[in-house]
Amino acid sequence: MTTATKTKPAFSPDQVSVVFVLGGPGAGKGTQCEKLVKDYSFVHLAAGDLLRAEQNREGSEFGELIKNYIKEGLIVPQEITLALLRNAISENVKNNRHKFLIDGFPRKMDQAISFERDIVECKFILFFDCPEDVMLQRLLERGKTSGRSDDNIESIKKRFKTFKDTSMPVIEYFETKSNVVRIRCDKPVDEVYKDVQAAIRDRL
Ligand code: C5P
Ligand code: MG
Repeated sequence: MTTATKTKPAFSPDQVSVVFVLGGPGAGKGTQCEKLVKDYSFVHLAAGDLLRAEQNREGSEFGELIKNYIKEGLIVPQEITLALLRNAISENVKNNRHKFLIDGFPRKMDQAISFERDIVECKFILFFDCPEDVMLQRLLERGKTSGRSDDNIESIKKRFKTFKDTSMPVIEYFETKSNVVRIRCDKPVDEVYKDVQAAIRDRL
């Protein structure tokens, strides 16, 4: 007979408060998170930024793999992203910072399940809902100066496909648990931010 070991998450939601910030590429997740960081005491952890930092870290055994996945708009195997997030959260908790905006994560169902099982349950999800043509224009504009290997039309198309096929099911899963706040973001940054602030006010 085998006995299943039930592991507890590393933190309780009373100790560590996590808001997942989701939405398609170019929806404005990073922009809104920056504004929230200025006005509230959140730590902003962007999964894509953590992956790019790991890609560029000298001696990283995952550099080449991350580079290829990002260029192809594919989701990097969860073990890598989860380890980066877990480290970043632990470091911040050591420094008495307990409120996190986790931007661009979870992007795939396995990440959602593993994070909440092993690290902490999220408080709620901010979902930036944006039409694809608006996201496309923003990404092409950003691509003029971002230097990102995936802000070009070929990669963007792949990222949109991954979002639809792999990431939307994550949002639909959280919707069944009724903790998704959907925010329309095909309007000016400051108008979107008013809706974001209202969502935060009601829920934190
Ligand atoms: O969020 P951002 O657009 O910066 O992510 C860039 C890329 O990083 C994604 O297209 C994907 O290849 C990778 N990524 C991932 N898993 C995540 C977040 C980002 O594989 N949870
Ligand atoms: Mg971003």
